[in-house]
Amino acid sequence: MNETTPHAATKRGSFTGKIGFVLAAAGSAVGLGNIWRFPYLAAKYGGGIFLLVYILLSLTFGFSLMIAEIAIGRKTGKSPVSAFKSLDHRFAFLGYLAAAIPAIILPYYSVIGGWVTKYAFGFLLGEGGEMAKETYFGGFISQPFEPVLWFLLFVALTALVVLFGVQKGVEKVSKFMMPVLIMLMIFIVIYMLATTDGAGAGVAYYLKPDFSKFSVMTVVAAMGQLFYSMSLAMGIMITYGSYMKKEISIERSVHQIEIFDTGVAILAGLLIVPACYAFSGGDPAALGKGPSLMFGVLPQVFERMPGGGVIGFVFFVTVLLAALTSSISLMETVVSTLMDKFKWDRKLCCLAVLGVCLLLGLPSSLGYSAWSSFKVLGMQILDLFDFISNSIMMPLLALITCVFVGFVIKPSTVVEEIECSGKFGWRRLFTVTIRYVAPVFLLAILISSVLDAFGIVKI
Ligand code: PFF
Repeated sequence: MNETTPHAATKRGSFTGKIGFVLAAAGSAVGLGNIWRFPYLAAKYGGGIFLLVYILLSLTFGFSLMIAEIAIGRKTGKSPVSAFKSLDHRFAFLGYLAAAIPAIILPYYSVIGGWVTKYAFGFLLGEGGEMAKETYFGGFISQPFEPVLWFLLFVALTALVVLFGVQKGVEKVSKFMMPVLIMLMIFIVIYMLATTDGAGAGVAYYLKPDFSKFSVMTVVAAMGQLFYSMSLAMGIMITYGSYMKKEISIERSVHQIEIFDTGVAILAGLLIVPACYAFSGGDPAALGKGPSLMFGVLPQVFERMPGGGVIGFVFFVTVLLAALTSSISLMETVVSTLMDKFKWDRKLCCLAVLGVCLLLGLPSSLGYSAWSSFKVLGMQILDLFDFISNSIMMPLLALITCVFVGFVIKPSTVVEEIECSGKFGWRRLFTVTIRYVAPVFLLAILISSVLDAFGIVKI
């Protein structure tokens, strides 16, 4: 690949081939969303039923939206703001909305990235036993200073890469990291299942859909997770599409990215959910732990393994690299939009984004310590940012994008682009989803998540 980043909008390069494109997109998609966020949502929203809903949504909505974004990018050859503008100037605002979302996600993403960095170091220093204690994680995040320092370290690493633009290095890291991560996860899953009493019941909880656990919130949470995990509704895929060569099949690439992304998420769930189920005896309070689930459960799994200290270290380092490749693409999106808009240089844009990141990230980190009593709509600050971006802004952006593609530029524009490289096999599914099913669903989701958050209707 020559250039993979939005700032190349002016001197546009292209991915050298299909593998380059799929890997770059998967590098952005596979991150903390898969390993940290997916398992805790699956545990909280009923295990198997969440998994089923997620897979169904991914094959319909995820597929259609990703196809549309990549096709818009490739057709226009532009970054999001200019892409929407060139298709219809009234919709230029969609590009800005798209860039605002990563600006909200990046700060709290970096707080979690900081926690991962801390755990990688902890294992390196042989503190695995200490970290496996029930109260360790809660104690760590409730300190006012230490989590902030790890957050700053993570942000600094991200900003350094974006500043010097060493995307080629990131690509190399992704290539090597993905296989290591997947093999390591398979190994740990097998080991955990073989050695943990009661893990079988946890696997059943995770894989067997129990329809009595279904609620509207299952769909809302699965949909939010889908956008997050597949890096949708943020302009990322438009940007990546703009670097893609015409002869490469968008449809096949999307299937591959989905398999990669969903595969890692399912595997991470298989690692974390049954272990949590077994350790807690299926206690709903433990399963509903939320953001702290991975940090609480995994050290316990590693502690029981021979050589668990080394495995824990390698695991958290790979998670850290996956998180960094994603946070870099988040920051790069915002930086390149600022560069496009204000014509500032890269350094200034990086500084501006860094400033926003500190401004929003510090409260997210302190929300677990000094500011823990500060809650909005019953949510801690980090959860609030997560809610605003995933449950409000992304469905909203996705909704307008669907209307835009379905009724303004028409699905045929996308279909033509896809058919540059051959027949579009899932054309009918795409057209119906983007025009009718997705907008209705997205609107319903948006309304229900707002009603739920304001406590008007408990769903
Ligand atoms: N998809 C990433 C994850 O699952 O961790 C998060 C992400 C990265 C979202 C980059 C958006 C993005 F532009």
